Amino acid sequence: MRGGAQAHLVEAEDGRFYVVKFRNNPQHRRILVNELIASVFLKYLRIAAPETAIIHLSQEFLDANPEVYIQLGSGRRAVEPGWHFGSLYPGDPERVAVYDFLPDTLLAKVANLAEFLGMLVFDKWTSNADSRQSIFLRARLREWVPNAATHPLRVGFAALMIDHGYLFDGPHWEFADSPIQGLYFRPLVYESVRSLDDFQPWLDQVRYFPEEVVDEAARQIPPAWLEGDEENLERLLERLLQRRKRVAELVGDCRKGRVNPFPHWQ
Ligand SMILES: Nc1ncnc2c1ncn2[C@@H]1O[C@H](COP(=O)(O)OP(=O)(O)OP(=O)(O)O)[C@@H](O)[C@H]1O
Ligand SMILES: [Mg+2]
Repeated sequence: MRGGAQAHLVEAEDGRFYVVKFRNNPQHRRILVNELIASVFLKYLRIAAPETAIIHLSQEFLDANPEVYIQLGSGRRAVEPGWHFGSLYPGDPERVAVYDFLPDTLLAKVANLAEFLGMLVFDKWTSNADSRQSIFLRARLREWVPNAATHPLRVGFAALMIDHGYLFDGPHWEFADSPIQGLYFRPLVYESVRSLDDFQPWLDQVRYFPEEVVDEAARQIPPAWLEGDEENLERLLERLLQRRKRVAELVGDCRKGRVNPFPHWQ
């Protein structure tokens, strides 16, 4: 797949396909931890995102598939056997088209477009140092959008939020808080914003985010992804909980950037 983590599309034993980021990816081991935390949190927030799984690659699989490797300049790094992060490809890659971008005319028709506002709340809280990224597909909305209040057979465009490797400033596990980070590159998704109220219910859900969900995310992380980072993770998550109360202010601070993403906010 495209991108700095050099993810690979892999068919797993459950017959489904996953976009897999390897533990020894070129970015950092912590990227996988960030992805897994995001996955648990987004499920709680009911924002549409691909299901995720912890994927085991055996030495036999790697030996049998020499095209699975990491490119470093002109050299190659072997993928380690063991546990890796997988993001579910929504369907059969031979049959289901997944788009990285939609033109504005189609973007405007995405059924869960408002979730980009929820995602901004999430990205500000977790200090995502990257721009917002998502994939799009045309499908039965009920199957992919947890909040879709529509007829079970209704087909439309859905946005699924992906790429959470750079939460907490990626490998640094810090909170940088620049006004422009975490925004989606199409202003259209923020056009409806008139006030902070438009970021509900997500603002309140983060403001009162349950500590149990944070604990559950920490419990799901394979020990091999931490290796000496356990206390750093604990500190990171404590700081994250402390930041819950600042989330509205962080969203409002977007207006202090060079370009105000919310031109209609009074
Ligand atoms: N669940 C998924 N289903 C289909 N395609 C996906 C999925 N997850 C990721 N992709 C595709 O794989 C690409 C790489 O994924 P992602 O953006 O998470 O990796 P990355 O290497 O961290 O990227 P970046 O360089 O932007 O940080 C995406 O641009 C997207 O096209
Ligand atoms: Mg990416």
